[in-house]
Amino acid sequence: MMLLKDLINEGKQTVSGFYPEREAQEMVFVFLEHLLGTRRYTHVLEPERTVSPSDVACARSAFSRMGAGEPLQYVTGKAFFYGRDFNVGPDVLIPRPETELLCRTAAMQLREAYSCNGASRALDLCTGSGCIAWTLALECPGAEVVAADISEAALSVASSQDFSAEMSASGAVAPHFIAADVLAGPLCSHGMFDVIVSNPPYVLDREKSVMRDNVLAHEPHLALFVPDEDPLVFFRAVALWAGALLRPGGFGMVEINESLGQETADVFMNAGFGDVSVEKDLNGRDRFVKFIRIL
Ligand SMILES: C[S@@+](CC[C@H](N)C(=O)[O-])C[C@H]1O[C@@H](n2cnc3c(N)ncnc32)[C@H](O)[C@@H]1O
Repeated sequence: MMLLKDLINEGKQTVSGFYPEREAQEMVFVFLEHLLGTRRYTHVLEPERTVSPSDVACARSAFSRMGAGEPLQYVTGKAFFYGRDFNVGPDVLIPRPETELLCRTAAMQLREAYSCNGASRALDLCTGSGCIAWTLALECPGAEVVAADISEAALSVASSQDFSAEMSASGAVAPHFIAADVLAGPLCSHGMFDVIVSNPPYVLDREKSVMRDNVLAHEPHLALFVPDEDPLVFFRAVALWAGALLRPGGFGMVEINESLGQETADVFMNAGFGDVSVEKDLNGRDRFVKFIRIL
């Protein structure tokens, strides 16, 4: 048996080998909450609280993974997004907080379509963990969501999300996940959509040099990078899918590289979409492009 407060101190020391001290402490508390159900103040309220040898062994192994730079979410296998816990692993990008803004706007549009037509359909291209697809499905009960990714491993994580309790309470329907190469052009066998969204790979290869080492070492490069000489390749592809599959009046939104706001907007304007605008994230950076299919 080991005292919880001693395990916390050991964890902070190990994890701060890679992360700054405050972040390391936060990661230790979150991990122990995941493992033991303790809160960050438990060791203060219960200074004699002990941890079993098997939990100590499990925590030590997790601390050394984090101390070597592995993101907390891959260690716990869980990432918090839009108020829910998603399964994650090394085959999928860890959902980022800015993507919640895309979900909020798209969910509003999807609900509006539902209230006008009594039905609504959304398509999520490059779905990864399925965080956008599931969020739209759960926030808009009654909506039908289709989501595509090229990676079978990512699709298996996306399909593994379990929101069955929430779904049976709200009547929401699980997304339909399909394997597709978005760059190969639109698949027309899934019908038309009221909303099309995508958070595709958009980090330039040359931006690798300014990225955190642990992102580069642990997150899938297939999910992140595009060639320097063709950084908008996925946005041209999304414009083709939306041109074929977005119903007239339908809404589209993509997450973008902050240094390419106007260039990305131009892709959608040149493809004939209307109301094209660049939107900022909470840090004031160009992060999204929105568009409407006018024809
Ligand atoms: C930036 S991640 C986004 C994941 C998720 N939508 C999110 O917001 O967290 C991009 C995803 O695109 C997928 N991807 C990469 N190339 C693709 C392609 N040619 N066709 C379809 N999906 C692709 C990757 O597997 C990865 O899951």
